[in-house]
Formats: sequence, structure tokens, C-alpha cells
Amino acid sequence: MQSVITIDGPSGSGKGTISRLLARDLNYSYLDTGALYRAVAWKIKEEKVDPDDEAAMDRILKEIDINLSSNSIAVNGVDVTTEIRTGEIGELSSQVSAKPAVRERLFQLQREICLHGMVVIEGRDTGTTIFPEAGNKFFLDADVKERARRRYEELKEKSTDITLEQTIEDIEKRDARDSSRETSPLKQTDEMIYIDSTGLNITEVVAKIKESLK
Ligand code: DC
Repeated sequence: MQSVITIDGPSGSGKGTISRLLARDLNYSYLDTGALYRAVAWKIKEEKVDPDDEAAMDRILKEIDINLSSNSIAVNGVDVTTEIRTGEIGELSSQVSAKPAVRERLFQLQREICLHGMVVIEGRDTGTTIFPEAGNKFFLDADVKERARRRYEELKEKSTDITLEQTIEDIEKRDARDSSRETSPLKQTDEMIYIDSTGLNITEVVAKIKESLK
């Protein structure tokens, strides 16, 4: 489907900002799939559940109700838009996203949104697993130090005890986990157009994507 644009890539590659702008320019909707994993992580933390406790996880996945709009996200009626953006929830979401039951639960939700078309969907497996039939697939990347620097600038606003060195370490750990998990790892495939955003500004990246659209 031509009107589905998938953008996959590692943490800090700029997927979120780029996808949001691209969707706005094209008058498409925007689906941030990472927010869904973050929502599950938030619920697990809220309910103090051990992610390795399968029975408790099953209960959480049955009970969770995620409501996503273009600029907010709610979990069982609680607005968690800001709360899911912490380093701790980022780390926990990477851990829970390796669990097949979690991925299965979120799959249908993402498929349904894509089937309507006219959507920019971004994440780690959107072009490989969620919507392989998308007509326009991109892989957005950047040098790990630049990605860590971008993430650090974001996190610094919310927390004072974060360092750049720690952020580089965290990003490397997440990259390794997100790319090596068995179910739907982050993967670049031949049909994806690869864009390295190191040294490019947001407008340049959006322009590159638009030039390549079929
Ligand atoms: O893009 P993000 O940092 O908000 O994503 C948070 C975590 O969710 C990320 O570390 C891995 C997971 N994720 C995933 O496994 N598949 C996706 N399509 C999107 C995110």
C-alpha cells in the first residue's frame, strides 16, 4: 500500500521528530509504536509487576487499554503522555518489547491503524512485521554518539543526574537488545531506503524522505 510509510531505526535516530513532521506535511496520521511499548512498561511499573512473571504479565495484557491520539496517550483512562518519556520507562519498554506476548498484544492495534492508509508509522519492526506490504519503507540511522547526544539533550530537561557517558552506555545496551531479540528484531532490509542522519538537520532528512516517496 503506497500510502503507508514505515520508518524503522534505533533509539535517538530522530524517527519520532521526522515522522511527525513528515505526517504533518503530507496530511497523514502518525503512529509512534514505541509509545505503545512504553505504555505497557508504564503499566507494569505502576502495578509493580515483574516482567518475567508470565501470569501477571498475561493479566496486565488482558486488562490494559491504550488510547492513542496524535499528541497524547492514555492507559486505562490515565494520561501518561509525559510520564512514559523517562529513561527508566525507555529501558523497561525495551525489556518488555522482547516478550512475544507483548508484541502479539500490540500487533493487531498497529495493523488496524495501518489498514486505513495515509499513515506514517515508526518503530523497530514496522516495515518488517507490522506492515511488510507498505509501499514506502525507510531505515533511519545516525552515529551512536550523535544519537546519545540527542537523547541526552531530551533527558537532561527532566533529570539532573544524567550524564552523556551514561546515555551512550544505555543507548548501546538498548541497540544490542532491540537488534538481537528473537521476535521481530530491529532489522534493515533491502527494500528499505537507508538514511544516515548524522550531520543532517531535520528539514534535510524530511526532504530526503519526500524525494524518495513512490
Ligand atoms: O522508540 P522508543 O524509544 O519510544 O521505543 C521504546 C522501546 O520500545 C524500544 O527500546 C524498543 C521497543 N519498540 C519495539 O520493540 N518495537 C517498535 N516497533 C517500537 C518500539
